[in-house]
Amino acid sequence: MSAPAPGPRATGVPHTDRREAMATHQQARQPDTEDGAKLRVESARVTYRSRAGNVLAVDGIDLDVADGEFVAIVGPSGSGKSTFLMALDGLVPLSGGRIRVDGRPVDRPGPDRAVVFQDACLLPWRTVIDNVAYGLELAGAGRKERLRVAARLLALTGLGGFEGFYPDQLSGGMKQRVNIARALAADPQILLLDEPFSGLDAQTRESMQAELLKIWDARKKTAVFVTHQIDEAVYLADRVVAFSARPARVVSQWRVPFPRPRPLELKHSREHRDLEEEIWEVVRAQRAPDEVR
Ligand SMILES: Nc1ncnc2c1ncn2[C@@H]1O[C@H](COP(=O)(O)OP(=O)(O)O)[C@@H](O)[C@H]1O
Ligand SMILES: [Mg+2]
Repeated sequence: MSAPAPGPRATGVPHTDRREAMATHQQARQPDTEDGAKLRVESARVTYRSRAGNVLAVDGIDLDVADGEFVAIVGPSGSGKSTFLMALDGLVPLSGGRIRVDGRPVDRPGPDRAVVFQDACLLPWRTVIDNVAYGLELAGAGRKERLRVAARLLALTGLGGFEGFYPDQLSGGMKQRVNIARALAADPQILLLDEPFSGLDAQTRESMQAELLKIWDARKKTAVFVTHQIDEAVYLADRVVAFSARPARVVSQWRVPFPRPRPLELKHSREHRDLEEEIWEVVRAQRAPDEVR
């Protein structure tokens, strides 16, 4: 199991109170990193600059993620979720604030983090196992070691037996499993996932969600998962963070009280649906201001 996230235990507390408790906790947070946050984001700001004008995409986000915590980020389309996730990986520079992992500043991608995007982007001329092993190859691992690690990850993601297949021989769900295995190959501490299952049909998505939780638990990862599907966020996460419309700010967050492991039937429970509904109301209320700064 993952380590509990910082903040008040909220099980049994009505949702609204839980949200207020979280808000109070956020305000009370110490500005220092010595309290054990794995990932600490302070006043992060991202501005895209182009000849057509500047677009402020992320505006002053504070977020701490504890070691082993699973945080889901939800928000309206175009709010800046992908931008924020890319900033966490160091793919997009900050125009203000800072991001640290274990106290170290993030300014570029590193082996402590891995991103999984919606599109699998596998190398079509490489077999499944060689796609998974690719990152290890770049890191200089020997062939035997690469294949050993890749085979283990393929077994973990339910792809044992498909090692020699090529990407175009796989279904969408299988490609995304390869993509996740590939992200895990360098053994990152933090997994950053950007709507990884949104291209999949409902049934495949559900089995991938269950699979991801198994992997996250088995490999003791810290996860930040962006999705616009609130049911998915509630089912997967320890905590759900809602972003405003662009520029992204944190408007609210909820601790998800359901114990783990979580059976898929949990999604149909009253408590799960009530929490989804409460989050949905907050997300729906977000309106994009008509502005380009
Ligand atoms: N490379 C870019 N240059 C300029 N604006 C961008 C760029 N990428 C994204 N944006 C803008 O930033 C905002 C946030 O985009 P994005 O992070 O993709 O949102 P989300 O993932 O929440 O849908 C959008 O208004 C988008 O048009
Ligand atoms: Mg996006």
